[in-house]
Amino acid sequence: MIEVEGLTKRYGAFTAVRGLSFTVRPGEVLGLVGPNGAGKTSTLRCLAGIIPASEGSVRIAGNDLAVDPVAAKRALAFFPDEPRLFDYLTVRQHLAFVARIYGVVHYEDLARSLLAELELVEKADVLPGELSRGMKQKLVIACGLLHSPSVIFFDEPLTGLDPLGIRRMKDSIVRRARDGAAIVLSSHLLHLLEEVCTHVLILKKGDKVAVGTLAEVSTQFSNGEPNVSLEEIFIRATGGSET
Ligand SMILES: Nc1ncnc2c1ncn2[C@@H]1O[C@H](COP(=O)(O)OP(=O)(O)O)[C@@H](O)[C@H]1O
Ligand SMILES: [Mg+2]
Repeated sequence: MIEVEGLTKRYGAFTAVRGLSFTVRPGEVLGLVGPNGAGKTSTLRCLAGIIPASEGSVRIAGNDLAVDPVAAKRALAFFPDEPRLFDYLTVRQHLAFVARIYGVVHYEDLARSLLAELELVEKADVLPGELSRGMKQKLVIACGLLHSPSVIFFDEPLTGLDPLGIRRMKDSIVRRARDGAAIVLSSHLLHLLEEVCTHVLILKKGDKVAVGTLAEVSTQFSNGEPNVSLEEIFIRATGGSET
């Protein structure tokens, strides 16, 4: 469960995110969409405790991120848009290291199944330098899921993956939600978001312009037309070509 109340993020005098409130319940997948610079990454970084919020509160699985950051962070995983790995640890060593950091005692079986799910078994003993971008992304995900987070944040998880990789990633996201995780992901691939998300939040220049189930947001911007795509809703809600 993710509970966000009045989240504001300022960089100096510039306000990147303004008074955002929403809740994501177990099993829900919230798609965070908006033009470049709308504040998606800033929002996700605040939710994950990577950067401090300027105002407002974030609760992760019941733990206030500002009051009890360790408990909150134990319950969450954050996948940034650029995968970062340790140059001198192999794939397998990454998992062992992360397991130790999070105090996951019997991680071997889960590590094995994650490597299989993410198709990294053959690469288990290589260094990140020998992995493709998509494989690095998968390794970051394997590491992030090792402590079985109940709250998951993805910043552009589908970018840079091949078509099969995208399908697998979608399946993997949907499976985690079915298992009870509360998930927020940002993406510009709106036709893919439509297949994965239960809810959407549309941001424009740091302001929330719409939030709700896909059907609710669609009703708000469809002017009574049936079957309006999320892409069309996005354009109507954010004023088109602005980037
Ligand atoms: N570290 C930072 N310092 C100053 N401004 C920033 C910083 N990070 C992001 N911004 C600004 O905040 C706004 C939102 O950025 P970001 O959250 O990255 O948007 P998005 O992910 O939706 O493209 C942009 O105008 C960006 O230039
Ligand atoms: Mg971003």
